[in-house]
Amino acid sequence: MKRKIVSMPGDGIGKTVLPESIRVLNAVGFDAEYIHADIGWDFWCNEGNPLPQRTIDLLTEHKVGLFGAITSKPKADAEKELNPSMQGKGLQYFSPIVGLRQKFGLDIVVRPCISVKGNPLNFIMKNNNGGFDEPFVNAVIFRQGTEGLYAGVEWTNPPKVVRDALETNSKMKAFKDVPSEEMAISTRIVTRKASERIIREAFEYAKKFGYTNVTICEKPNVLRETSGMMLSLAKQISNEYPGIALWDTNIDAQMMWLTKNPEIYGVIVAENMFGDIISDAFAGLIGGLGFACSANIGKEVAVFEPTHGSAPKYETLNPSIINPIAMILSACMMLDYLNEKEKADRIRKAIDKVVLDGKVRTYDMMKLKGGPDVFKHGACTTQQMTDEIIKSLPNPS
Ligand code: NAI
Ligand code: MG
Repeated sequence: MKRKIVSMPGDGIGKTVLPESIRVLNAVGFDAEYIHADIGWDFWCNEGNPLPQRTIDLLTEHKVGLFGAITSKPKADAEKELNPSMQGKGLQYFSPIVGLRQKFGLDIVVRPCISVKGNPLNFIMKNNNGGFDEPFVNAVIFRQGTEGLYAGVEWTNPPKVVRDALETNSKMKAFKDVPSEEMAISTRIVTRKASERIIREAFEYAKKFGYTNVTICEKPNVLRETSGMMLSLAKQISNEYPGIALWDTNIDAQMMWLTKNPEIYGVIVAENMFGDIISDAFAGLIGGLGFACSANIGKEVAVFEPTHGSAPKYETLNPSIINPIAMILSACMMLDYLNEKEKADRIRKAIDKVVLDGKVRTYDMMKLKGGPDVFKHGACTTQQMTDEIIKSLPNPS
């Protein structure tokens, strides 16, 4: 039976890159039917819900989704752009990708950041001989996807019961003179079960793919309770994996180590927000958002997406300039997940070849400022990059 994949292009460049990944999936011989599902800003503006129930139903039924990107805007803009007939009804915008993670328990967010040889955007460092070194970055970030600072438990002007509860903590004395109306609170809730799951998945991945270290990247010296819990669980779980070293770093220091010795890190595991930060930072070392792919994996449902957002400033450029590789690599992660590893590897080999050959490059790879002029300077279009990847697919072995 033909596999059905839920296709959620979303907003902006999500609508451009997702079809490109499907072209590559078709070319590599992955036999599937793609079922379109609505998600994103238009559905917020017109229906008051960026993640319509019909999309949730499709994912519930078909279990595997490809996702492009969505546009999120701050609270006041979200309210302003809502269809006037729906304003003032207390509707609240919530990021639909965060919503998907929570709805389907997509708690294992995996973001590989692996250098591609010959990528002119690879991170380089000056060395002592007047030349430079190009460290090979091979880090895979495991970001907890459903809780922590992004769980959405937050208030502006917290109700009295919340305030009273918080005041049972002596640290709240520092805020005793602040009226609730002048206060905004976002909570960081971390649970043992979810932390154990992401940490264990990180170790399992390290074991499966031969990584020799797992780093828990938190801030337990300050966030003593939440980061403290994650660190102590990591220590316990690491005992089950004798061949793999557990390192722990603080999120702030990790950002510095990143440009000192990024090549030493293997698997890195962190809470939702810290994982978000680490994965963008590592993405910067391997070519930026045009190369950063990710998977959101739950017990039953999985959604694959590039790390980048909807880049609205490039949405209307025609032909499109943006790099489809992040989306195509995300589709490879989907193939891995569906046990189509041979097809995933063929696509990755094709990407490696195109990047190394360097004949066809999107504007970001040429370090050009984005805009319609990039073609004059030799940049390829989004579609030309995909064409070149398809042309470079090795034959099935
Ligand atoms: P962004 O990732 O959309 O774009 C930032 C910049 O990165 C772009 O202006 C562009 O220069 C570059 N870039 C991104 N993708 C690229 C690609 N495929 N090829 C070449 N260059 C690329 O992030 P930004 O500008 O912070 O956010 C724009 C919108 O996207 C916002 O509404 C934000 O909320 C949303 N967003 C959505 C995400 C998602 O859908 N998962 C993730 C991040 C942001
Ligand atoms: Mg991010």
